[in-house]
Amino acid sequence: MGWNNLLLEKEAGIAVLTINRPKVLNALNAETLQELDAAMDQLGNDDEVRVIILTGAGEKAFVAGADIAFMQTLKPLEAKNFARLGQKVFSKIENLPKPVIAAINGFALGGGCELSMACDIRIASENAKLGQPEVNLGLIAGFGGTQRLTRLVNPGLAKEILFTADMYDAEAAHRIGLVNHVVPAGELMNFCKNMAKRIAARGPVAVQLSKQAVNDGLEMDLEKAFVHEADLFGLVFATEDREEGIAAFLGKKKPEFKGR
Ligand code: HXC
Repeated sequence: MGWNNLLLEKEAGIAVLTINRPKVLNALNAETLQELDAAMDQLGNDDEVRVIILTGAGEKAFVAGADIAFMQTLKPLEAKNFARLGQKVFSKIENLPKPVIAAINGFALGGGCELSMACDIRIASENAKLGQPEVNLGLIAGFGGTQRLTRLVNPGLAKEILFTADMYDAEAAHRIGLVNHVVPAGELMNFCKNMAKRIAARGPVAVQLSKQAVNDGLEMDLEKAFVHEADLFGLVFATEDREEGIAAFLGKKKPEFKGR
């Protein structure tokens, strides 16, 4: 492992990955993104891990954005490569065959908001603040934010958020569908772990294919997406977990899924 900017804890099928640069509110530099990339590969391949929770170190921030001091050193082509690196890592999270929950424990701004949007589920603490303040710096969102925000909220709202650089508190973010739940700060991790546990107890292949069906379907027309859904339904039928799940229901028992 040997990461400089990440912490990893594993417990009963759940991995908690913490971005650990609290002095700069967990801002993302290239090294942190590379470590995040490697960590996602590792967790994606780790059979012990069924659900990942991503959070930020300290009480103030999830991630306050791309590292502004680091970006100041970049030439235009390097800036493009930095944006592409972030896009690549965030797409890896989005397409990881396991659910990723963002535990938004404070500021999720710019690249931090974009990172949370690449996760499957966003849970915010009451003190969280989300936004895309790039235009304040003469920048634009470059880690996929212009696209993911538009798909998550509506295009008009996405443009307002991107043009004004306004920060949304947790309640406002909840109102527009940017986060699923708002919980008191002290309860955030327990809430996320509890949800992760419920997901981890379900059929892992079924959860994985549910994620894939949603993601793939967003890029297809509806009829093709239905056919794809039926294909995945057929595929899940070939798993031992399907036999276990249905037999357990009919036998009035708790299923024990093996992920195959
Ligand atoms: C580098 C950052 C940082 C960032 C905070 N810090 N955000 N360093 N990059 N994104 C540092 C501060 O410089 C400061 O360092 C320390 O963290 C604490 O922050 P303060 O500003 O003192 O805290 P506070 O007054 O509470 O304000 C919190 C804040 C503010 C509102 C979140 O820090 C802020 O506005 N940060 C920038 C947010 C932002 O613009 N993000 C978008 C970045 S652009 P010192 O050394 O002074 O203690 C982006 C582009 C993505 O994300 C796409 C790229 C391709």
